[in-house]
Amino acid sequence: MIKSAISPSMMCADLMNLRSQLDVMQKQDIDYLHVDIMDGVFVPNYMLGPGFCSMLKEASPIPLDIHLMVTQPEQKISWLPIGPGDYVSVHVEAGYHILRSLQAIRQTGAKAMAALNPGTPITALEHLLRDIDGVLVMTVNPGFSGQKLVFDALEKIASVRRYLDDRGFYHIDIEVDGNVSMENAAKMRSAGANIFVAGSSSIFSKQAPLDRLIFQLKAACG
Ligand code: DX5
Ligand code: ZN
Repeated sequence: MIKSAISPSMMCADLMNLRSQLDVMQKQDIDYLHVDIMDGVFVPNYMLGPGFCSMLKEASPIPLDIHLMVTQPEQKISWLPIGPGDYVSVHVEAGYHILRSLQAIRQTGAKAMAALNPGTPITALEHLLRDIDGVLVMTVNPGFSGQKLVFDALEKIASVRRYLDDRGFYHIDIEVDGNVSMENAAKMRSAGANIFVAGSSSIFSKQAPLDRLIFQLKAACG
């Protein structure tokens, strides 16, 4: 089974205390920083941006996991401060040239991820498998934190894992994004996910200190 990784959702972080939270994440060997970029068109919300990504690059050695929820992503990859070790996910539903976007991401040295909205069938991946390092399975409708899992989230994770493995793409990561609570994380791991976007449902729930919640989530996703 591919190694588990935690990717804290920066839109849920305490931006007034981000420096200390980044120090905690670094001490806890966090794998990625999940940065949701939203343009108010592809999703009905605005959130973060390339400038915030640059600030994170300056402030922390933790690789970025940028989630582009924007129209025409193929025109916007060059706006991002990315390179080897970083992940960038683009939605198969956005823009006209998903393959061009994925190839543009890889040309920077970063890893490319195809993101699927809850309503998008897995077959949308059919012609992308050689151009991706990961699949982002949206387990809520994108745009807002604090939502609940869509009804078939766990089933879809398992189906994506089967779809990839049946075609020999065992190395492709599956990232899950949305309502990754401690309880859901364990079920998502069993279903085949290995990268977990941690937001208000887990490490930013404020129910305990950040380092304790990260420890609990790591235990939950094995
Ligand atoms: C959803 C966002 C996520 C996530 C936040 O569009 O991409 O970052 O939902 O985490 P939760 O769902 O736990 O608040
Ligand atoms: Zn996201």
